[in-house]
Amino acid sequence: MNYENLLIAIEEKIATVTINRPTKLNALNKATISDLSKAVKLLAKNDDVRVIIITGSGEKAFVAGADISEFANYTIVEGAQLAAEGQETLFDYIENLKKPVIAAVNGFALGGGLELAMACHFRVASDNAKMGLPEVTLGLIPGYGGTQRLPQLVGKGRAMEMIMTAAMISAEEAKQNGLVNHVVPQAELLEFTKGIAEKIIKNAPFAISRAIKAINANYKDGKDGFETEIKSFGKCFGTQDFKEGTTAFLEKRKAEFTGK
Ligand code: COA
Repeated sequence: MNYENLLIAIEEKIATVTINRPTKLNALNKATISDLSKAVKLLAKNDDVRVIIITGSGEKAFVAGADISEFANYTIVEGAQLAAEGQETLFDYIENLKKPVIAAVNGFALGGGLELAMACHFRVASDNAKMGLPEVTLGLIPGYGGTQRLPQLVGKGRAMEMIMTAAMISAEEAKQNGLVNHVVPQAELLEFTKGIAEKIIKNAPFAISRAIKAINANYKDGKDGFETEIKSFGKCFGTQDFKEGTTAFLEKRKAEFTGK
């Protein structure tokens, strides 16, 4: 499938999705959000894909935010719809995906761009990356989950300060604060991130999907994360991959997982 503002490459079970609007610093207009949502849904069903990496084209930006030109004249109702639709079709969808999604943050990740990176399961940044939620400079607040996910990652006080000051932080600061896991030179970002994906692919896919579910449960209203872990732990015992993983260990060989 061809997308107006996305490039997709699948290699060795890793799908790399590149947001490709470099002249607008990869800002997320409606068409790009819709394409991203469709693409991620298709990749979720594709058995040739075990890990998804999301990055931005060019050397300057991951995503410089939602496309400001599109919502400049919105009403209260339209604004709420924009946030609700985006959250449902893309941001929450990615967070709850059964396959790991990694953000390779290759430059500016601002507003909706940082929110997209935060919806991914974890983040790797290039050393030139800059991150922030500058919505208050536009008279707005983050609308794609930023007020919820930033405090989860960096703590409430730091999130309050970042959102209220609209300040951008460097990749190194983001790493110190737990917002990104690794910082690498820009030229090495994709290879480094693929290296992490390769490690994930060696492990049992069903168990990975259940780990995502159990970890996420802690952040959902009314969910008991421990209860989700217990159920998911139990379900893993019913898989062929569990038999393979334990048998391979006992036979002192490498496990060959099938995802069943
Ligand atoms: N929405 C729409 N267009 C955007 C955009 C956004 N979020 N971010 C950048 N662009 C566009 C610019 O309008 C410009 O387009 P033009 O060449 O047609 O005028 C192009 O991308 C390049 O951006 P520019 O501002 O000229 O680059 P810069 O290097 O001077 O500044 C930034 C880079 C990231 C600091 C600046 O683009 C910026 O502040 N962007 C908005 C960030 C933001 O507030 N995001 C939150 C949105 S909710």
